[in-house]
Amino acid sequence: MSMTPASAIPPAAAPAADWSPSSWRGKPALQMPTYPDADALAATSDELRALPPLVTSREILALKQQLAEAQEGKRFLLQGGDCAETFAECSSDVISNRLKVLLQMSLVLVHGLKLPVVRVGRFAGQYAKPRSADTETRDGVTLPTYRGDIVNSPDFDAQARIPDPRRMVKAHARSAMTMNFVRSLIDGGFADLHHPEYWGLGWVSQSPHAADYQKMVAGIGDAVRFMETLAGRRMQSLNRVDFYTSHEALLLHYEESQTRQVPRADGWFNLSTHFPWIGMRTAALDGAHVEYFRGISNPVAVKVGPSVTPDQLLRVIDALNPDDEPGRLGLIHRMGAGHIADKLPALLDAVQREGRRVLWICDAMHGNTESTSNGYKTRRFANIRSEIEQAFDLHAAAGTHLGGVHLEMTGENVTECLGGARELTEVDLQRDYRSTVDPRLNYEQALEIAMLIVRKRGAIGE
Ligand code: PEP
Ligand code: CO
Repeated sequence: MSMTPASAIPPAAAPAADWSPSSWRGKPALQMPTYPDADALAATSDELRALPPLVTSREILALKQQLAEAQEGKRFLLQGGDCAETFAECSSDVISNRLKVLLQMSLVLVHGLKLPVVRVGRFAGQYAKPRSADTETRDGVTLPTYRGDIVNSPDFDAQARIPDPRRMVKAHARSAMTMNFVRSLIDGGFADLHHPEYWGLGWVSQSPHAADYQKMVAGIGDAVRFMETLAGRRMQSLNRVDFYTSHEALLLHYEESQTRQVPRADGWFNLSTHFPWIGMRTAALDGAHVEYFRGISNPVAVKVGPSVTPDQLLRVIDALNPDDEPGRLGLIHRMGAGHIADKLPALLDAVQREGRRVLWICDAMHGNTESTSNGYKTRRFANIRSEIEQAFDLHAAAGTHLGGVHLEMTGENVTECLGGARELTEVDLQRDYRSTVDPRLNYEQALEIAMLIVRKRGAIGE
């Protein structure tokens, strides 16, 4: 979705001689389904290998360059979307509303931070989920756990929970449809800065943030008109934005089938997404996921939880970015508001001391998940906010940059996270809780996060 000229794109590093798209198969692979029908799996993999890619190497390398700038504090990364996409929600409204919120948040960030924003969606492939248990028991019946729509169905039914490789083909098609719609919206002027009112969601007028947001949009409109009057022409570059995609590359059978070589660029690219990441549960140094990721030329990221030691982190950095290539590696810390002050500084110091080049990203969601007394998995807005604010302070104290945020959010008016300007309570969760996995910020809570990032970054003088 980016149109960076080829001359600006650095060459990708050559893969190690002992790596291939399938070398992960020789390592312990956690969180993978056991497919009962090996022949069906092989046939599906062959079919997937022959399908056209979802993204191009050129876009991937352009993103890598933007991430390199974010590493240096010259850009800010906004990465957000659903915890898990579902096949059922691959629909016009859900996709366009999510895009609108991401555009609105990025407008708040560009305006407030005075920095270009790198926009990366958690979509067009976010279909596989790591789970804390392999089985689920209800009323004495135990079934395999739901692992995302790319693997099995959330219905609590023995047949529905059997991992089905054909779901990978459906996930690929749904990802392509999502990507196609996003590309068309953006190319058709959906993100045109001349018309930010196109991105308005019905809620904007009722939101507690409506006045701030409308004031900012009016100010931007004035600035655009002023610049164009000065230049004597319409600025076409304001008509569109770059938008990239990411997902947790968990299901390695699928990822392997999308790993390709391309003419005129060295290396292997995962062409199912621009920016895959490794989840916290599969980030072991000797595991299959690190093995797969080390050989691809995409920019990649790793989740870093509270149990990771500085030494372990340095070894993961060595494995995934041995040459310190700019823009190659993002570290997404997800400690929780109660742990970040204890756990993050030692990691920042170690990476700083060794002079390693990484993009630090704060996931303020996954360390803050809890269950309510009425049985909902939720997150408190106050904890999400606190983790982001502490992250800015801790990076400032360590002399490192917090280069971006990673959020679970939606453009729908769901009630899944507690708090925020409307002060959602446990009772509100019953009203519109839709997530099949983790609770997401709704549009108002997401916009509020963008506003607080601007305030906080300003307050620490960055
Ligand atoms: C996720 O991003 O949805 C996720 C499962 O995160 P983590 O690996 O950090 O737990
Ligand atoms: Co999640």
